[in-house]
Amino acid sequence: MSVAEIFDVVASSTNDIRGSLAGRRTYAEAENPSGEQQLAADVYADQLLEERLLAIDSVGAYASEERDDVVTSGDGYSVAVDPLDGSSNVKSNNAMGTIVGVYDAEFPAGGRDIVAAAYVLYGPLTTMMTAHDGTVTEYVVEAGARKPVRKDVTLPDEPVVYGFGGRVPEWPDDFSAFASSVEQELKLRYGGAMIADVNQVMTYGGVFAYPALQSHPEGKLRLSFEGAPIGYIVETAGGRSSDGTRSLLDVTPTALHQRVPVHVGNAEYIDRLEETLNG
Ligand code: F6P
Ligand code: MN
Repeated sequence: MSVAEIFDVVASSTNDIRGSLAGRRTYAEAENPSGEQQLAADVYADQLLEERLLAIDSVGAYASEERDDVVTSGDGYSVAVDPLDGSSNVKSNNAMGTIVGVYDAEFPAGGRDIVAAAYVLYGPLTTMMTAHDGTVTEYVVEAGARKPVRKDVTLPDEPVVYGFGGRVPEWPDDFSAFASSVEQELKLRYGGAMIADVNQVMTYGGVFAYPALQSHPEGKLRLSFEGAPIGYIVETAGGRSSDGTRSLLDVTPTALHQRVPVHVGNAEYIDRLEETLNG
């Protein structure tokens, strides 16, 4: 019941978040805790979701990629949010998302404490993918209400697409070797917003990665706000996730904003990635 309420609040906020974009394509004055420039749209979505999610009785803590510290309001789930994933796409008017991880533990909590996760994709349609109780469901969100369009979503058996982030010369040699083999088999789909790129994998099957980079061995994406919730959704849909060695759900965070290399998709590709990286 309470997880459904969290999902409903996220769905009912999508109109406001989408509606806020047109007037908020400018940069705010601050940087987020990861040192990235914040857009006014990031700040707006963060404040909206903080207010609405903390108002739910069963939510006791709110953390987001856009603020340093956890905000608390009594007992309950700890909710981790990436309010506007891929927000630099607001300039070029390409897809963006919102990511929510529901943890039954205090922050910083690991993926094994996730009880539910969801993402919203602001594409031509607003869609939402939820994972809870072993099931993934895709919804279309209209006028703030979510209507299921695909139940028991699983990754397609015959993978079609891949998308890898980071500059190619920055990739470690073993990841480059993996990428070369994938390029022979799958079609490239990369749009610069993790949610949009992962949704391609959820729809067509394949593999998404933002790997470790030579200059940034910890990768770019954040464990609590991006890696673990997406790992939870992809694994619930029958796929695999990995930091290169282990499931993203088994990575223990020591800091709220820590980064992690992210690889998610059909099991055969994540198996091969781990063999290439560790073999
Ligand atoms: O949240 C970080 C993010 O915007 C992701 O959504 C996306 O996958 C990545 O950064 C894009 O990074 P780059 O611009 O290096 O491709
Ligand atoms: Mn993001």
